[in-house]
Amino acid sequence: MRHTSAHARHEPVQYENHIGGRNVPPAGGKYLDTEDPTFGRVWARVPASTAEDVDRAVEAAKKAFPGWAALKPSQRGRLLYKLADIIEANAERLAEIEVRDNGKLYAEMHAQMCYIAEWYRYYGGMADKIEGVVIPTDKSNIFNFTRNEPLGVIGMITPWNSPLLLLTWKLAPALAAGNVAVIKPSEFTSVSTLEFLPLFTQAGFPPGVVNAVTGFGKDAGASLVDHPDVVKIAFTGSDLSGQKIYEGAARHIKHVTLELGGKSPNIVFDDANMEAAVNGVISGIFAASGQTCIAGSRLLLQRSIHDAFMEKLLAVAASARIGNPMERETNVGPVATRPQCAKVLDYIDVARQEGATCVLGGGRYAGEGATSDLFVSPTIFTGVNNAMRIAREEVFGPVLAVIPFEDEEQAYAIANDTAFGLGAGLWTSDMRRAIEGSARIEAGTVWVNTYRALSYTSPFGGYKRSGIGREGGMEAIKEYLQTKSVWICTDPAVDNPFLMR
Ligand code: NAI
Ligand code: MG
Repeated sequence: MRHTSAHARHEPVQYENHIGGRNVPPAGGKYLDTEDPTFGRVWARVPASTAEDVDRAVEAAKKAFPGWAALKPSQRGRLLYKLADIIEANAERLAEIEVRDNGKLYAEMHAQMCYIAEWYRYYGGMADKIEGVVIPTDKSNIFNFTRNEPLGVIGMITPWNSPLLLLTWKLAPALAAGNVAVIKPSEFTSVSTLEFLPLFTQAGFPPGVVNAVTGFGKDAGASLVDHPDVVKIAFTGSDLSGQKIYEGAARHIKHVTLELGGKSPNIVFDDANMEAAVNGVISGIFAASGQTCIAGSRLLLQRSIHDAFMEKLLAVAASARIGNPMERETNVGPVATRPQCAKVLDYIDVARQEGATCVLGGGRYAGEGATSDLFVSPTIFTGVNNAMRIAREEVFGPVLAVIPFEDEEQAYAIANDTAFGLGAGLWTSDMRRAIEGSARIEAGTVWVNTYRALSYTSPFGGYKRSGIGREGGMEAIKEYLQTKSVWICTDPAVDNPFLMR
């Protein structure tokens, strides 16, 4: 929550942790700067929290848990509906904060802020529909049924690319199911979470149901993972951090959901609607400057249409307006963080050294519209083969690797020759290909003749190294429940107490 209002003077605004419904300064008194990538300026300071802050937040959550879990489910649902309305009323303000912190397009962030309200409504409606089952057993005089119970304190660790959306994917089902949360947002984009949580108070949520501690992954994040009273970690971010978190959670046998990015193929067959496919490939890799876990970063292109398709693709990609993400005409904004920018530029060098051909962009963008040194030109490499690092590692930037293929067999072989399996695009007008291809691709989401479509109603998650568990849809609520099997005996007579019944 905002402490001082100094926007006009360009002095960084100082925020505090959100614990038990209050602003709480960090125990160690340390803060970290957060930068606005569009202007390359520090604009806010957030707590650099430590284990002590995490302890306090977990304590507050633990205190809130019994009351929250015992609330009538329909009442939890009502609070979630109320929250959804408040989010909509604050969508513009929240979108501005997101843009200021991560440089994504205002148009996209505003739509996102309006859309996240639907997650709270969807799961709010589910709160009083969490049913168990009565199970007919082969034991006489025993009545067996299941209860689905909340887990308790959930640790949520989120990244910088879509902070509130990715938080919402966790928070909405978790709260509906009766859990409470301690959130550790990305050190690069913590402000939106700190501005978001007071909306829960406004909606009437009891204090302590949602808490946030900001800071670095290795400090605040690792402390949350290691806290014995946190029963589950829900994480979105890189596969390497995900692996560390999984290892940390394993020490306590914690539940996890992990959403870990990808190297998603966008496969264009020669029978595809060219124009639609070009637009799909563009939105797959240049929207959000390629900083999405579902980025279609490998374009698998049938050789017979390679040159004709590339000509069209280049024309559209080259027309992208680069600039201030707050402006309506802008198509591509800055890269979100300084380390990310360095990483993307480094991968561009790697691709060149590997022998790929750069046919568009290929470096930092300093032309018209660039307002800081964090802009990277939309970049396309042709002549990539799937063994190159540019085809295997997640770049998380506006860099497309184009890989030609001959036939369906080869297309699916290349598509699946990756450690990841988050998303995939298939472009074809052949129904058989659409059905067969979507079955053969190893990915949690397959889009046919579209890309980047998502909804609160549909499960989302990864195969292989892209993660564990699903967010969205009916499936996600199960990730925040545990099943209890209850056996009630209606006949106390026992033949032999030394035998199992
Ligand atoms: P990251 O995966 O390291 O960070 C995500 C979150 O995890 C942050 O809140 C961070 O503080 C926390 N974290 C990091 N290490 C942790 C640990 N050991 N224990 C507990 N929490 C920890 O992502 P980062 O550093 O922001 O970006 C690194 C790369 O990750 C990017 O270059 C990009 O390739 C990828 N990435 C992927 C995303 C996706 O949605 N798949 C999202 C953001 C980044
Ligand atoms: Mg920032």
